[in-house]
Amino acid sequence: MIHIPKAEYTRRRKALMAQMEPNSIAILPAAAVAIRNRDVEHVYRQDSDFQYLSGFPEPEAVIVLMPGRQHGEYVLFCRERNAERELWDGLRAGTEGAIRDFGADDAFPITDIDDILPGLIEGRDRVYSAMGSNAEFDRHLMEWINVIRSKAHLGAQPPNEFVALDHLLHDMRLYKSAAEVKVMREAARISCAAHVRAMQASRAGLHEFSLEAELDYEFRKGGAKMPAYGSIVAAGRNSCILHYQQNDALLKDGDLVLIDAGCEIDCYASDITRTWPVNGKFSPEQKAIYEIVLASQEAAFAEIAPNKHWNQAHEATVKVITAGLVKLGLLQGDVDELIAGEAYKPFYMHRAGHWLGMDVHDVGEYKVGGEWRVLEVGMALTVEPGIYISPDNQNVAKKWRGIGVRIEDDVVVTKQGCEILTGGVPKAVAEIEALMAAAR
Ligand code: GLY
Ligand code: MN
Ligand code: MN
Repeated sequence: MIHIPKAEYTRRRKALMAQMEPNSIAILPAAAVAIRNRDVEHVYRQDSDFQYLSGFPEPEAVIVLMPGRQHGEYVLFCRERNAERELWDGLRAGTEGAIRDFGADDAFPITDIDDILPGLIEGRDRVYSAMGSNAEFDRHLMEWINVIRSKAHLGAQPPNEFVALDHLLHDMRLYKSAAEVKVMREAARISCAAHVRAMQASRAGLHEFSLEAELDYEFRKGGAKMPAYGSIVAAGRNSCILHYQQNDALLKDGDLVLIDAGCEIDCYASDITRTWPVNGKFSPEQKAIYEIVLASQEAAFAEIAPNKHWNQAHEATVKVITAGLVKLGLLQGDVDELIAGEAYKPFYMHRAGHWLGMDVHDVGEYKVGGEWRVLEVGMALTVEPGIYISPDNQNVAKKWRGIGVRIEDDVVVTKQGCEILTGGVPKAVAEIEALMAAAR
C-alpha cells in the first residue's frame, strides 16, 4: 500500500515547530468517534490536522508539541493497551507504541491528561490550537489554563497568548510534498478505475445506486477505506442538483448520468466528475453542452502554472462557457457584457475548483493580502467546470432542460504547468462512447 512514510511526519512536526514562537506549545486533539445510531459508530476518520502531524490513527489522543523542550518536544497522550477492550474493538498502540511506532518522544495515558498537561503548558508564553473548531476541546483547554491560573499565587505562570494554529499548519498543508503527490496519484488512479467501471456498467433500467456500487467495489478493492466524500450519482434532471446524494433514481434511456466521486488513500482525497449518457450515446443537445464544458476545462488547465493566480482558471472557464451558451442561443448578447453581468450564473453557479488534499475541500487561503493567491509548485486543486440547465428554466427551449454536465479532474502545479492526476478516465465524447460500446 502506498502511504505517507513515517519520516515525513517527523519532518512536518519539525517544520511546524520551526515556525512557532520561542517558548510556545501546540495542542491538537484527535477526532472524536461519531455515533451513527445507538451503539453503532461511523467509520472512524482521523482529524486531518492531527493525522498530518502524527499519522496516529486512533481516537482519544492529543498531540502536544513544545519546540526546544529538553525532555522531548513531541508528547502524545493516547489510550492505554487494554486486553479486554482490544478483544472487542481491535488493537491499540498504547503509550509504548506511540513512542516506538509513531515517533513520540514521550507518551502518557489519555486518562492522565488533566494531571499532566497543565504542567506542560505552565511557563510557556503562547498556546497554539485550532480555536473555535472543537467547542469541547476549547473548554478543556481553558480548564487546563485555569488550573495554572489558580496556582499563580504559588508562582505558576499561565500563558498570555492564544493563537490559532490554522494559519501556520494550513499553509504547510497547501504545499504537497513528493510523498503526498504519490499518495494522491494512487487515490486518483483507483478513482479513475472506479469511474471507468461505472461507465462500463451503465445501462437503462439500473438505478443510480447500482453505479455507486461499482464505484465502491473499485474503491475498496484498491485499498481505500472509504470515499473522500459522499458519492454523487445523479441521472437525468438530478444532474442539475449540485450536491445530490439520494442516488436511488432509475437510469433512463436517453438521460445523462453525472458521477462525482473519489476515494481516499491514507487520508488523501481524490475528486473526479464524469458525465456520460446512460445508453452510451450522447444526443446532439447533450453533446453540444458537453463539448463546451470540456473546452472550458481545457482552457482552465492552460491557466494553471506557477505565477498564474488562483482565479485565472475560473475566469477562463467563465469565458468559454458564456461564449458557448451564446453560440447555442441559450444566452443572447455580447459575451463580455454577459460576463460582466454574470449572466452565466443560472447555468454555471459554482467556482472552477478548490484546493485538494487531506480534505476534499482542502485548507489554504485563496487570497493573500486581499489578492488572489499566486500558484506555486506543489499546490493541488480541482478543475471542475459545469453547465446545469434547470428542468424548470422557462427561458430556454424544452430540449435543453434537465441537462447537467460537470467534468472534474485533479491537478498538481508543476514547474512547467500542471500534472493531471486523473487522466486515467476518458472524457472526450468519442472516447467515452467507444469505451461504453466495447462494454455492451
Ligand atoms: N465533490 C465535491 C466537489 O466537487 O467539490
Ligand atoms: Mn471538487
Ligand atoms: Mn467533485
